[in-house]
Amino acid sequence: MRRPLVAGNWKMHGTRASVAELIKGLRQLAMPAGVEVAVFPPCLYIGQVVEGLAGKSILVGAQNCAVEPLQGALTGEVAASQLQDAGCSLVLVGHSERRILLGESDDWVARKFAAAQSCGLTPVLCVGETREQRESGKTLEVVGRQLDSVIESLGVGVFAQAVVAYEPVWAIGTGLTASPEQAQQVHAAIRAQLAAENADVARGVRILYGGSVKAASAAELFGMPDIDGGLVGGASLNADEFGAICRAAGS
Ligand code: PGA
Repeated sequence: MRRPLVAGNWKMHGTRASVAELIKGLRQLAMPAGVEVAVFPPCLYIGQVVEGLAGKSILVGAQNCAVEPLQGALTGEVAASQLQDAGCSLVLVGHSERRILLGESDDWVARKFAAAQSCGLTPVLCVGETREQRESGKTLEVVGRQLDSVIESLGVGVFAQAVVAYEPVWAIGTGLTASPEQAQQVHAAIRAQLAAENADVARGVRILYGGSVKAASAAELFGMPDIDGGLVGGASLNADEFGAICRAAGS
């Protein structure tokens, strides 16, 4: 059985004060049994969140890491080893906002994935198609290619210690959620692609859905056979809403 994971991606939101408020809210949540919960604050606030959530079973992750795993001369970047040192256990790689707005290539995403794992962090590989790609029937091709670039450079075995997040770009921050059936179709294709290389890895890997997940839509999405939790953006900034989404993953 795969243990569901609900991950809150705070993106570039927060101040010391609002982060303190959110930590307070998260500390008050009753954590559902059997669900793993993680939050991904902006890098600047990782220390504050790790300290603030001490003793609470919520993991902390980063939204990005450098292509080089170890510290060195790379101005403005943060190494996976430093994230690990700061108390992170996961890191997002290949979020569409970084692929599209910052031009991150499949090759860079694979290097970040490897950097994360070499430092003991669990990479959460984000994949997903744009609206134009979906409308032209290219969804599975696009997602398949994004997944394949990691399999080709690192081998399928790396997914034994990784998470995949399917996030249709058209659903991110738009209020448009993929229907449970639309999401399930892509999740099943991702798992089948991994299974073609290694059935055990495919059976064990958690595939999260992301894109306007709200408490109201979570239970139906998480009820699909290949959806193992969610990567939640906007709704993760509200502790009560996020808590309700976490509970939906446990039911
Ligand atoms: P959203 O973001 O829930 O605000 O759509 C999800 C994400 O980008 O991870």
